[in-house]
Amino acid sequence: MTSVTSLFAPVEADLSLLTTNLKKLVGTRHPILYAAAEHLFGVQGKRIRPAIVLLLSRATMLDQDITPRHRRLAEITEMIHTASLVHDDVIDESEVRRGMPTVHSRFGSNRIAVLAGDFLFAQASWYLANLDCLEVVKLLSKVIMNLAEGEIQQGLSQFDFNLSLDAYLEKSYYKTASLMANSAKAVGVLSGVSPKLAEDMYHYGRHVGLAFQIVDDILDFVGSTDSLGKPVGSDFRDGNLTAPVLFALEEQPYLEELIEREFHKPGDLEEAITLVKEGQGIERARALAAEHTDAAVKYLADLPESTSRQALINLTEYVLKRLH
Ligand code: IPE
Ligand code: IPE
Ligand code: MG
Ligand code: MG
Repeated sequence: MTSVTSLFAPVEADLSLLTTNLKKLVGTRHPILYAAAEHLFGVQGKRIRPAIVLLLSRATMLDQDITPRHRRLAEITEMIHTASLVHDDVIDESEVRRGMPTVHSRFGSNRIAVLAGDFLFAQASWYLANLDCLEVVKLLSKVIMNLAEGEIQQGLSQFDFNLSLDAYLEKSYYKTASLMANSAKAVGVLSGVSPKLAEDMYHYGRHVGLAFQIVDDILDFVGSTDSLGKPVGSDFRDGNLTAPVLFALEEQPYLEELIEREFHKPGDLEEAITLVKEGQGIERARALAAEHTDAAVKYLADLPESTSRQALINLTEYVLKRLH
């Protein structure tokens, strides 16, 4: 399988500049927020979102170099993502992220984590506004709304075994795909591509995002905390019914009973996990993710041939096969 490093080769230099810049951008005079920001950007994640932005930037700018605004958009995208993770870890009471203690556990306080997340969102908005492009501001500010909406929808549907696959996908769009879709479209706007191509880029991001979230939900069952750098098995325990569970529910009626009583009796959770793993749930979820990566590739058809375009195609394969 292609490693992330070789996958991102066309934008490797751009990504290392991004990492340096992110640390600088969040530099603040307040020691606690500064420490939180240092902590966050000291351990970088996979940087899939900025990689998509940068690859699309290169794929649309071709012979010309990408502009400072393209770079700034990539930074904003990673800032928004990181802010959402800081808040998500408070909501999910997760202690580990990127193989490190989460902000709230490192600083022993949810208040600091909520403020650090707010601060990052606000800072991202500031840099966004300074791109001086109203259309891009609209696209990315909608994402920030969607992220909160996704968390709310998820919170409201815990242990709801009647959740439909469509509702799950809508929530996944809000939580994950919206950022990839809208930042991809924003690249199109900055590069001045045709409205049709900008829309195609949106759909590429949307399908990659949905596949990414479905695979993430599979990894919650089959991954390990060590390789993922974050807790596994916790989504299901908290009542988040994801693609593998929704498919398993169709063939294992008893699962419904276990979920309905919120895994109350000793051994319930273990039994439910076994039921999900035994059936076709995980396989069907993988097939669904593959449908989305296939769809994503189709939306790249109108981009001119380039190494960046090829990397965007390879990225869909990585999303499907990733183990962390
Ligand atoms: C985690 O995203 C949140 C989800 C959408 C599942 P990533 O897995 O991209 O997190 P990092 O940035 O690599 O840590
Ligand atoms: C991550 O969601 C947060 C967002 C995508 C906004 P999850 O709670 O599903 O993912 P992890 O497992 O914490 O990364
Ligand atoms: Mg979480
Ligand atoms: Mg969550």
